[in-house]
Order: sequence, then structure tokens, then C-alpha cells
Amino acid sequence: MVSMSNSSSTPSPRALTQDELKTLVGQAALEYVVPGEWVGVGTGSTVNKFIEALGSIRHKIPGAVSSSLASTERLRALGIEVREANEVDWLAVYIDGADEIDPRGCMIKGGGAALTREKIVAAQAERFICIADASKQVPVLGKFPLPVEVIPMATTRIISQFAAMGGRAVLRMAGDKPLVTDNGQHLLDVHGLKIDKPLGFESLISQWPGVVTVGVFAFQRANICLLGTDAGVQTLRFD
Ligand code: 5RP
Repeated sequence: MVSMSNSSSTPSPRALTQDELKTLVGQAALEYVVPGEWVGVGTGSTVNKFIEALGSIRHKIPGAVSSSLASTERLRALGIEVREANEVDWLAVYIDGADEIDPRGCMIKGGGAALTREKIVAAQAERFICIADASKQVPVLGKFPLPVEVIPMATTRIISQFAAMGGRAVLRMAGDKPLVTDNGQHLLDVHGLKIDKPLGFESLISQWPGVVTVGVFAFQRANICLLGTDAGVQTLRFD
């Protein structure tokens, strides 16, 4: 299911901070960028480290397809061309973080509210390279509240549907107003779920009317995870 190898990163005599682990995996991901090919870029604090590193090899790629306005801004600030997903047919790799990753490479994503565009760009890529610090590795998905992007008029019914399966869905706020995603929709964070069959779960929730995107990435699971640990970057390969 998963095979593991360690990179040559020098082990540190002290525990690395989460920020340092993110930097390690962000830099390690450069190895998976294919020269001459557009690269799919995710969203979040770990990806921000990757974007910084990508700046150093920007002359080797035509540019990037981005999963959020925030990542687009960072990429452009480094002189990296950003194209719309519709303008690039195929991506060799999509590189993104995760809120949780299970032993099969299935993930919960959307902590940064970008799950819909992340799933769209990931679907265009041959391989999903997940970059994460070791705290994101879990035996079963669901401890992290599951993000679900919804059409606002369906919110109350979707909250009830999650309650019927034992989940407590909370509308994500930005100050005193509901958070509005890059797609103009709202987000629920669902607490108390145990997602031990991610493929079936993703299929089911995706069919509920008003659900735009569920933050389980099982159909677009990771092919490889670069996991930041105190012993260096571990490479987990999922078959
Ligand atoms: C954004 C995401 C992020 O990949 C996820 O939240 C992890 O973020 P971070 O690298 O900041 O921990 O899915 O929607």
C-alpha cells in the first residue's frame, strides 16, 4: 500500500519546528517539478514554502496553474507566469499540502478554503505530490473538521444531513460574516466524522444537492507524500 524511503536531508540534533519541516518538504518537492512542463500549485502555508523554492527554478518551467487567488499572487510576485486551468490541458504534477493524510494517500483538504480549485487542478495532473509535516499523518481521516464548500441556499439542509450521520457541521466565518470562497460560496466544517471508507464517502457527499466540493480527496489521492520529520524528509509512495 505504502512504501517509504528517507532522503539525504541531514537529521537535526534538535526537534525541528513545524515551520522548518514545511520548508524542508517545500524544497524537496522541487525534485518532482518536470522541466519544460506547467506545474499545478496548491494552497496553504506548506505550499507557500514550495512557491518560494520554485522561484529559484522558474526559468526551467513555462509557468504554473494555481488553485487560489492567494497562490497566484505569490507566484506572480516571483515572476512565475500563471495560466487558468482551462488554458493548460495537462499537468505532469500537482503539488499541494493536506490537513490529514491516511495510509492509502487519501486526504482531507480545504483548511485554507481552496478545496474546490485544488480538486479541479489536481484532476488535471498525472501525479499528486502531497507535502506535509508529520502531524498530518493519521490512521483514519476525520479528526480534522471536514471542509465542505456549499451553495448558501442549501446550508441548513446539508447541516441536517451531516447531523443524521453523526457529524456536527459549522458554518465557517470570517469575522462576523460567513466566509466567502474564491468561488463565491460558503464553507461548512464538519466535526466528529470517522471516514474509514474515503472513496465511498466522497462519492456519497458529492451527490448531495448544494454540495460544491467535499474536502475528502480519495479520487484525487496523493501518489507520493513528502513527509517532514525530525529524521528528514520521508518519501511515502502509494500504489
Ligand atoms: C487549503 C488546503 C491546504 O493544503 C491545507 O489546509 C494544508 O495547509 P497548510 O499547509 O497551511 O497546513 O487544503 O485549502
